[in-house]
Amino acid sequence: MKFVTTPIYYVNDAPHIGHIYSTLLADVISRYHRLRGEKVFLTTGTDEHATKVVEAAKINNLSTDEWAKRNATAFAGAFQNYNIHFNDFIRTSESRHKDEVSKRVSELIETGDVYLGKYEGWYDSGQEEYVNETVAKQNSYHSAINKKPLMKRTEPCYYFRLSSYQNEIKSLIESDSIRIIPQSRKAEILSRINEGLNDVPCSRPKTEDWGVEIPGDSTQIVYVWIDALLNYLTTIDNDELRECWPPELHIVGKDILWFHAVIWPSMILALQNKKNNEWIKLPKAILAHGFWIRDGVKMSKSLGNFISLPVLNSYAEKYTIDGIRFFLMLNGPNDSTDSDFNDAKLQETYNAHLANALGNSCSRVISMIAKYFDSIVPVSEQSPLIDVYKINEFIAKSINKQNVFNVKVQIELGMSIIKEVDSFIHINEPYKLAKDPLRREELSLILNNAIEALRIASLLLWPIIPQKIEELWLALDYRPGFKLNDFDWGTSLAGHTIVEKLNLFPRA
Ligand code: MSP
Repeated sequence: MKFVTTPIYYVNDAPHIGHIYSTLLADVISRYHRLRGEKVFLTTGTDEHATKVVEAAKINNLSTDEWAKRNATAFAGAFQNYNIHFNDFIRTSESRHKDEVSKRVSELIETGDVYLGKYEGWYDSGQEEYVNETVAKQNSYHSAINKKPLMKRTEPCYYFRLSSYQNEIKSLIESDSIRIIPQSRKAEILSRINEGLNDVPCSRPKTEDWGVEIPGDSTQIVYVWIDALLNYLTTIDNDELRECWPPELHIVGKDILWFHAVIWPSMILALQNKKNNEWIKLPKAILAHGFWIRDGVKMSKSLGNFISLPVLNSYAEKYTIDGIRFFLMLNGPNDSTDSDFNDAKLQETYNAHLANALGNSCSRVISMIAKYFDSIVPVSEQSPLIDVYKINEFIAKSINKQNVFNVKVQIELGMSIIKEVDSFIHINEPYKLAKDPLRREELSLILNNAIEALRIASLLLWPIIPQKIEELWLALDYRPGFKLNDFDWGTSLAGHTIVEKLNLFPRA
């Protein structure tokens, strides 16, 4: 079983394109695993114990509980609407999670990895992050992310003994035992570790009835990040799922990589100090993606260029949910650079790749089979005329472990097969052969090969645009086995009765 996770989202506000993107990336990668017959457990959810959630609830005249629930429902609904297939949706306010946090924090107190101290310094309340003097000064005592002034805090607090794990974490990352993708982010993290790791605050004074108390000290609440990271354990810490551990992949945005690459693995090393926790191994990989920006500038509500869920949904009405999924995956910031969301590019991507290339190719081949073979896929005994060698090369590349996290390469491979089919048709001109009854066998061979190649391309594209591909499969009366041998040439559609016409992606 491959355990794949997304960040859990703050419920102070409604979902937006960034949240959809992180979760979609996890869905697509999980679907590539599933397509090859591998079992996946994908979790997502909401991070509810942040102070900013309490504040937002007050502003909106609701109890924190109601406000959190309302937004958690919005997140889950949005993910379902974008056809994201998750196995668990965890809310940190659930008792299963609060119990897990109490249990793990008390273990860390027992091992001495969590101890009582005093915090005097800066806090970024938008990011819910403690900021050291050097970084605070560099940014003129403003948040590096949202540019708001930092808060000065002086308060008793518990610390996590991060400093103990500096050398171990460094070598685990250097050796790729914890793999950080992309490479440029790995270098950034290592250079920050080399600046030295100090112990970090892991609690705050309890000011309202929200969050998880530090075990044995009802005046302190577990710091929201320590609480949130433990969600990954909560979802699988039961007899049925414990064997899913360790995580195959944590998907995160670049702004929260530090927590996942350094703090979280150190917490795991600390938990391993406790007997019976030997099974809590380190995550295998962490993928940090970049940010969506809009028309070249950072998105923000005040600039009015923000892609909120309703804005994204209105695009989906025009280009379909799968059209949006395709655009986000093809043009998204799945590596170290940020990506620009712009209307013209969305329209162009949709028309060029989905309406013209994929949609058109399917509709042409299907309508020729309807016209020349009464919608029954022709059988052909002859060896294939299309370049099967080349197609198999694309498949091998897609299955290669190196590419499993690279959705752009996967799209490219699927679309390359479509191009192959188009040029095959262009060169062999079946519509001309159809006029000559003596060349019927050749015509069978060509259309048989073309639809078989489309079947294989459809497999590679299913993780990206599952609804439309499933529509195509229904039209072809095809049910893949979700096994590696689905990719074998000739697991053929020959003899299937298919639809007469299909327009998967009307031109926009
Ligand atoms: N609650 C924490 C995560 C805890 S994980 C144990 C958090 N939540 S968040 O709601 O603020 O952000 C969640 C994710 O959305 C992050 O991965 C972040 O990078 C991503 N995005 C937020 N804005 C984004 C863009 N504009 N573009 C792409 N992703 C961005 O952080």
